[in-house]
Formats: sequence, C-alpha cells, structure tokens
Amino acid sequence: MNPHGVSRRKLLGLITAGSAAAAGLLAVNWQNASGPGWPGISPVNAGGTPPRRGDKTLVVFYSKTGRNFPDLNLEVGNTAQVAGFIHDRVGGDRYEVVPSEPYPADYDETDRMAQREASERLYRPIKPGTPDTDQYGTVFLGFPVWWGEQPMAMQTFMRDHDLNGARIVPFVTHEGSQFGNSLEILERYYPQADVLDGYARQGQQVYRDPDGTRTQVNSWLEGLGF
Ligand SMILES: Cc1cc2nc3c(=O)[nH]c(=O)nc-3n(C[C@H](O)[C@H](O)[C@H](O)COP(=O)(O)O)c2cc1C
Repeated sequence: MNPHGVSRRKLLGLITAGSAAAAGLLAVNWQNASGPGWPGISPVNAGGTPPRRGDKTLVVFYSKTGRNFPDLNLEVGNTAQVAGFIHDRVGGDRYEVVPSEPYPADYDETDRMAQREASERLYRPIKPGTPDTDQYGTVFLGFPVWWGEQPMAMQTFMRDHDLNGARIVPFVTHEGSQFGNSLEILERYYPQADVLDGYARQGQQVYRDPDGTRTQVNSWLEGLGF
C-alpha cells in the first residue's frame, strides 16, 4: 500500500484502463522510496577529472525476466527487448547487469524487496565481469523504473563505474511513471556526464507491440543522430 492507502496494483489497473486522470494519480502515488535529497547517493569521482574515454559504444541494461506486471511471464524482459533494438541499430558492445542473487520469482515479493532496497539505499551486489567503461564515449543506460528509480542492481553498476565525461543515453520501461526520478538520480551520480534525450516506453506496450516499439526506437535514435 502507498501512503494514500491505494494499492499499487489497483493503481496499475487504473492506468491500464488508459485514464489520463489515473496517470496523474499514479504519478502522485508512485513516489520514490527514499525521498528528496537522495540520501546515500554520492557523485562518482566527486570533483575529480573525468576518465580519459575511448570512442566505443556500450548498451548496458538491467531487466527482470519472469513474473511481471500485468500478469506477464517474460522470457525476455521489456527493457532487454528495447536494449536489443538499440543495439541492432547502433552496434557496439552490449552488457546485461545481473544481480548476484536473483530477485524472487513472485512479483509482490520483488516489489516489497525493491521498495526496501531503494528506501534504505541497499546496493544490491551484481555479478562480476562488468566492462571497463573507460573505453566507451557513448553509453546507453537502460532499466525498468522501480519505485521511481533505477533498480538498486543498476545503481550498484552506476556507483562502481565512472561515466563522467561520457555521453549517456538513458532508456527506461515503466508502467506510468515515465522516467520517474531516474534522470535526477543519473545526474546526481554523474554531474560531469552529457545526458542526451532519453526514451521511455510503457513495458506492456513493448511486450504487446515489439514492432511498433522498434520503429519508435529507430526514429528516436535517428533524431539523436545515431
Ligand atoms: C519492483 C517493481 C517496481 C516497479 N515500480 C514502478 C514504478 O515506480 N513506476 C512505474 O511506472 N512502473 C513500475 N514498475 C513497472 C516496471 O517498470 C515495468 O513493468 C517494466 O517494463 C519492467 O521492465 P523489465 O521487464 O525490463 O524488468 C515496477 C515493477 C517492479 C517489478
């Protein structure tokens, strides 16, 4: 339940019905878990010189397979789909952030866990073998919006990789919050990055209309000059 006593599932039901009013309500109720000021988030390499960067392109993303809203069982997560469409067009390297311990299969359990992780800023360990991000001048950074933020597994990647000085191109999937607070959070980690206009798509639209999503992604990328 959110502070207004309306369950998120109910709100999601409203938004699925397509009501603009419900979209406003959703935005009000899906506040970030940790509140203003983003306690626990410090700029990466604060005040330091950004690393010397190569000119390669990286598409890095986190996405959850399995049970998801609304009663979907995703073999490929929504954000992973979008990451694939981006990579098909821009090439370069592709890297999936994977938590060391998977989130629970059950949606509600994951939801509760994610809220706690975000509100207590519990950085979720991720599998080793992450790329040396200094090689990349352009980094596409993708994630589902969870409680208005990047999931903590993605924030672990962000905390541990200095993307200052890079061109960062954010992309998200969501169920009504659009980017939520994630762009502010991105700037908080990387005050010296050049953040380009991102792409946000409702997750179930990615699932239901992959071809339309690919078309949208291509025209967004074209608009950015990719
Ligand atoms: C734990 C959890 C928290 C979520 N929080 C939000 C949210 O705050 N705002 C929103 O619009 N959607 C939220 N969603 C919906 C997801 O962003 C959406 O289903 C997304 O497409 C999932 O992407 P994935 O398949 O790549 O994991 C949440 C989903 C989960 C599982």
